Amino acid sequence: MLQSLVTRKLWLAPLAGFTDRAFRILCKENGADVLVSEMVSADGLIRDGGKTLMLMEFGEYERPFAIQLFGSEPVVMAKAAECALDYKPDLIDINMGCPVKKVVKRGAGSALMKTPAKAAQIVKEVKQAIAGSIPLSVKFRSGWDQGSINYLDFGLIMQESGADLLCLHPRTTSQMFSGQSNWEHIAQLQKAIDIPLIGNGDISSPEKAAQIYEQTKCDAIMIGRGALGQPWIFGNIKAYLQSNIYQPRTIDLLQNTMLRHLELALQYKPEAIIIKEMRSQLCHYLKGYVGAAQIRVRLNRASSIQEYHDIISKL
Ligand SMILES: Cc1cc2nc3c(=O)[nH]c(=O)nc-3n(C[C@H](O)[C@H](O)[C@H](O)COP(=O)(O)O)c2cc1C
Repeated sequence: MLQSLVTRKLWLAPLAGFTDRAFRILCKENGADVLVSEMVSADGLIRDGGKTLMLMEFGEYERPFAIQLFGSEPVVMAKAAECALDYKPDLIDINMGCPVKKVVKRGAGSALMKTPAKAAQIVKEVKQAIAGSIPLSVKFRSGWDQGSINYLDFGLIMQESGADLLCLHPRTTSQMFSGQSNWEHIAQLQKAIDIPLIGNGDISSPEKAAQIYEQTKCDAIMIGRGALGQPWIFGNIKAYLQSNIYQPRTIDLLQNTMLRHLELALQYKPEAIIIKEMRSQLCHYLKGYVGAAQIRVRLNRASSIQEYHDIISKL
C-alpha cells in the first residue's frame, strides 16, 4: 500500500481555503495521484464537529486520500485520528509545518518543531489509535528559523516514533512562504531516513518537477501553489518526465478548465458560497494572461454564476 502512495507519485498539497472537493477532483482529473484534505483541527473535531467534520468528506474517486490533522495535545490528536478513521481515508497526515499565527500560538503546526518530544508523543499516540490500519505521515518544515534548523533530527525522531512517510517543505517558519525552498534539505533528509520522503516547495512547472527529483532523489513530490490556476500541471509533469514535452496553455484549455472548476464547485457547495469562493480560485487562472487586471476586477464584481460564465467565455 505504502509503495503505491509514493513511487514517483504526484501529490496535491493541502491548501486550506483552496483544496476543497471540487478543486481536488479537478486536479485528479488532470493527473494528480494522491489528494489530501485541508487541515482539520483536532480540537475542533472533539469540541464541535459540524463544519470541521465536513472537511473530512471525500468521494471514492478521490482515493488514495489523506486526512490531515493539526493540534498540539497527543490525547486529543489520538481521539481525532479515531474520528478521522470513520471516514475511511487511505492515510492520516499530521501537520507540523503550518506557520500561521493562530495555529502556532496554540503549540500546533510548525510550533511542534520546537517541542520534538511532544511531537514524538503525538506520532506515537496517533499511531496507536490507528493501530496500523493505514499509514501515518508527518509534514514539516526545515525548522523554526535560520538559527534553529532541525529538520534532520526532527525527521529521524518522527521516523523512530512510528511515522511511515515524511513530507518536507524546506522553508523555516519565520520565512512563511517567502524566499526559496531549500531543496538541499530534502536531499539531506532523503539520505538520512529509511522511510519514503515527499519533496515539496516551489514546484511550479514540469521542468522544476524533473529538477527536484534529480537533485533530491525524493520518492514523490507534492504540489501546492503550482496547481492553483493550472491544475493541468500534474498531467504535464507526467508527460514531461516521460517524453520531455507537455501541452502549452491555450485559451481553450484555460476556458474549459475554468468552466469545469465552476461546474464541480456547484456540485458540492451552495451557489452563494461558490460566488464568493470562486473569485480567488478563478483569478489564479489569469496569471500571465494579457489584460488579467481588468478581468480580475470583473470577476471580483460578479454576483452570479451566469456572470462568471460570461466572463470566462469571452476570454
Ligand atoms: C493558502 C495556503 C494554504 C495552506 N494550507 C495548508 C494546510 O492546510 N496544511 C498544510 O500542511 N500546509 C498548508 N499549506 C502549505 C502547502 O501545503 C505547501 O507546503 C506550501 O505551499 C509549499 O508548497 P508549494 O510551493 O507547492 O505551494 C498552505 C499553503 C498555502 C499557500
